[in-house]
Amino acid sequence: MGLVRNTNLSALLVLLSCFHLEFGSATDTITAAKFISDPEAIISNDGGFKLGFFSPPNSTFRYVGIWYANISVPSFIWVANRNNPLKSSSGILTISEDGNLVVLDGQKKVLWSSNLTNSVVNSSAQLLGSGNLVLQGNTTGTFLWESFQHPSNTFIEKMKISTDVRTGKKVQLTSWKSPSDPSVGNFSAGIDVRNLPEFFIWNGSSTYSRSGPWNGRIFIGVPDMYTTYLDGFSLVDDKEGTFYLTFTLLNEPFPKHYVLNEQGNLLQSSSIIGEDWEVTWSSFQTECDVYGKCGAFGSCNSQNTPICSCLPGFEAKKTQEWNRGNWRSGCVRRTPLQCESVNNGSEGGKKDGFLKLTMMKVPDLADWSSALEEKCRNQCLENCSCVAYAFDAGIGCMPWTRSLIDLQKFSSGGVDLNVRLAYSELDKEENVKVIIIVTIIIGVIFTGISTYLLWRWMAKQKAKKKKTKEMLLLNIREAYPKFPREDKHGDRLNQVKLQDLPLFNLQELASATNNFHLSNKLGHGGFGPVYKGKMLDGQEIAVKRLSKTSRQGLDEFMNEVVVISKLQHRNLVRLLGCCVDGEEQMLVYEYMPNKSLDAFLFDSIKSKVLDWRRRFNIIEGIGRGLLYLHRDSRLRIIHRDLKASNILLDEELNPKISDFGMARIFGGNVDQANTTRVVGTYGYMSPEYAMQGRFSEKSDVFSFGVLLLEIVIGRRNNSFYDDDHAMHLLGFAWQMWNANNIVALTDLMIREPCFEMEILRCIHVGLLCVQEVAKDRPTVSTVISMLKSETLDLPLPKQPAFTERQIAPDAQQNPSKCSVNNVTVTMVQGR
Ligand SMILES: *[C@@H]1O[C@H](CO)[C@@H](O)[C@H](O)[C@H]1NC(C)=O
Ligand SMILES: *[C@@H]1O[C@H](CO)[C@@H](O)[C@H](O)[C@H]1NC(C)=O
Ligand SMILES: *[C@@H]1O[C@H](CO)[C@@H](O)[C@H](O)[C@H]1NC(C)=O
Ligand SMILES: *[C@@H]1O[C@H](CO)[C@@H](O)[C@H](O)[C@H]1NC(C)=O
Ligand SMILES: *[C@@H]1O[C@H](CO)[C@@H](O)[C@H](O)[C@H]1NC(C)=O
Ligand SMILES: *[C@@H]1O[C@H](CO)[C@@H](O)[C@H](O)[C@H]1NC(C)=O
Ligand SMILES: *[C@@H]1O[C@H](CO)[C@@H](O)[C@H](O)[C@H]1NC(C)=O
Ligand SMILES: *[C@@H]1O[C@H](CO)[C@@H](O)[C@H](O)[C@H]1NC(C)=O
Ligand SMILES: *[C@@H]1O[C@H](CO)[C@@H](O)[C@H](O)[C@H]1NC(C)=O
Repeated sequence: MGLVRNTNLSALLVLLSCFHLEFGSATDTITAAKFISDPEAIISNDGGFKLGFFSPPNSTFRYVGIWYANISVPSFIWVANRNNPLKSSSGILTISEDGNLVVLDGQKKVLWSSNLTNSVVNSSAQLLGSGNLVLQGNTTGTFLWESFQHPSNTFIEKMKISTDVRTGKKVQLTSWKSPSDPSVGNFSAGIDVRNLPEFFIWNGSSTYSRSGPWNGRIFIGVPDMYTTYLDGFSLVDDKEGTFYLTFTLLNEPFPKHYVLNEQGNLLQSSSIIGEDWEVTWSSFQTECDVYGKCGAFGSCNSQNTPICSCLPGFEAKKTQEWNRGNWRSGCVRRTPLQCESVNNGSEGGKKDGFLKLTMMKVPDLADWSSALEEKCRNQCLENCSCVAYAFDAGIGCMPWTRSLIDLQKFSSGGVDLNVRLAYSELDKEENVKVIIIVTIIIGVIFTGISTYLLWRWMAKQKAKKKKTKEMLLLNIREAYPKFPREDKHGDRLNQVKLQDLPLFNLQELASATNNFHLSNKLGHGGFGPVYKGKMLDGQEIAVKRLSKTSRQGLDEFMNEVVVISKLQHRNLVRLLGCCVDGEEQMLVYEYMPNKSLDAFLFDSIKSKVLDWRRRFNIIEGIGRGLLYLHRDSRLRIIHRDLKASNILLDEELNPKISDFGMARIFGGNVDQANTTRVVGTYGYMSPEYAMQGRFSEKSDVFSFGVLLLEIVIGRRNNSFYDDDHAMHLLGFAWQMWNANNIVALTDLMIREPCFEMEILRCIHVGLLCVQEVAKDRPTVSTVISMLKSETLDLPLPKQPAFTERQIAPDAQQNPSKCSVNNVTVTMVQGR
């Protein structure tokens, strides 16, 4: 197999990639002997990316770059000789004598080099399926150089934008000069860590735009991120000085990436295979996104004209300039703070206070402390150099001691910013409020009796709603003592954002479900029946109704509200709202037309739909949902009841984890907890949990392993009881694994030689997850990288739990809720 010309040989390649074990494909590799010259190209193993020579639009210069093989409108995700173009089409991309990857012109002059410091013998460059071009020596697996470490203007999946705070080394995007000139432009984008990691775009050396600090899930200065729109990102602190940002786009059939364009805007673009790129998000949405648009102590609101205004209690520093629309000089305080004179004990001064501004993009240059909300306020009040503070549950306390710069008022999202003002300024605000209130009262008095009656009727309704919410809160407080009570997050739990949770009224739900008619019943959840419903606007919902008699159900109900109302991820089922009316308590979810995974997997007809790709997608999706629950280090959640019937499938068969009735929230540094009440489902429970009631992330990993094996094998974990040896799924898997009989293990539906390696890998990972000792099991993030990455060497699994003993519930364990057989297993479906 020689080199692939620029012509399309992908059909052949697909064929080859299926049998690459036999042949050992070399079309994705460049060596000193197998170089490419203009206009040849190489293609990654899976046919996704091409590396070769190109000319940008309206240019005759030639460059070496990487682009998507399958998209007709090219988008060059990486360019080698961007500052040093080839002036004719006689270029060569090869490996030089010292082992470097080089671009040579017709005269063999080096135009670009990977610039390794030490020379190596017989190195080769390979274009990986991820789009990463790597240079390897004679030891495979370690990269001497990689294009992901030297990005141009494009951020693609699996790439890491990073900053090493110790060495100052940055991996960042740099814009092109113009659409026809890829040389390094004015703008760059990357991570900067002052006190908190944040994403920045720079124009030369000055800040052009910023994202606000990362709070463990999102950048708090990007309001779109509060929706699931930009989900999939993670910013990781490797604890060795490096912070990196990366994203993954699971379940998305089309490539999507981020490009830093020539004007300094980060654009999210997606492409439908073979068609043009479409911009789906931009970092520059309004003028307000330009750093420091309104100067110090100025706030930008794109909905206002003019967009800039001084913060309350502040006035323009240069009034005329400000009024002309030049806001850069910013605002100054009207009344000096009293802090120092009050602290000195002098007469007359009253203590400063805070004015709360809601839905704000927080200013630049925040300090950080671990104080909780109330303490954060006091710390700021005590310290005369503190001018504002904000508190975010995922970050902690952010005080500011410098000028407040780059503030923005959002119409959704953002956080509360508390700005310090002199007491007299706050007084003025109060006076205004008093005047407004008096006016309203007078107005009310002068309205006639009819309006009075109407008002009373409305007040009644309002009170009813308030009572509902209070009752919910009360129940939640009652439910709380069960959670591990550390100050640190006990406090956090009280901040459940119930205001954000829509309330449905009972009549609405009753009519949507035809009065909870039996024909609409979907199944029975952890604490009550689940009904399908259709709202007046046509939206389909699933309503989970708490059984009136169940006290334990109430606990689980409250637990579910608390846990799931805080979570949002594409692999978790979404809570739309709740309803509390007298005795009735209900949760309303999005409706999942494809019911739960077990309904597909263990059904001889439906399981045909689940080909290997879909199954792998489901495994990965569950993994990602679980990772989301475990990873958020400040709010770690253990699901405790992961099983096939708790995985729901949407229209496209994407998995969503459901049923958080037993989930537990962990404090930041607790790794493991004990419970006297073992809940869960036999067969999915890890030994330490089933026997000793100890649960941790690793007990979820165990359940995930069982689930993974079920998906691959296509049988329920307890379906083996009717076999002669009454063996458990894990025992069966372990036996076949040791006998090297993987084919016998895989479901008939997915026995295709093409996928054998991948399936083998999955089973291997599954067995690692179900190892007896919790410590031996990998974490979910490791599991995901094991499933996806081809280079990682997997350790050999040790014997799984439960393969020697027979599991049977004995008197000691006495689980209050379990089911040995799926005959009694509750079917939670279609929520
Ligand atoms: C590229 O296209 C070929 C067929 O045109 C297809 O078989 C292959 O899977 C595609 N590769 C990717 C990564 O989309
Ligand atoms: C290329 O040149 C044409 C004609 O001058 C112009 O219309 C087009 O926008 C240019 N394309 C790019 C990408 O610069
Ligand atoms: C490689 O090193 C040379 C000389 O130090 C430098 O001019 C060139 O820009 C470097 N190339 C890259 C890609 O860093
Ligand atoms: C790899 O190459 C280095 C020299 O570049 C040599 O010292 C080493 O023994 C080689 N290793 C293998 C496994 O061939
Ligand atoms: C490099 O490759 C050539 C040809 O494949 C081989 O003859 C030579 O021994 C290799 N050198 C080293 C140090 O591995
Ligand atoms: C880049 O910066 C130079 C001055 O540093 C300026 O003249 C030029 O207009 C800038 N280009 C863009 C696209 O902003
Ligand atoms: C970037 O900075 C240069 C000079 O430093 C300036 O001329 C240019 O207008 C700036 N670009 C933007 C988009 O602000
Ligand atoms: C308050 O006291 C400190 C020293 O105790 C002094 O430096 C400062 O000037 C005093 N401030 C006022 C406003 O009196
Ligand atoms: C006030 O805050 C600043 C910045 O956080 C800190 O350096 C200083 O020590 C604090 N002063 C007091 C008295 O706590």
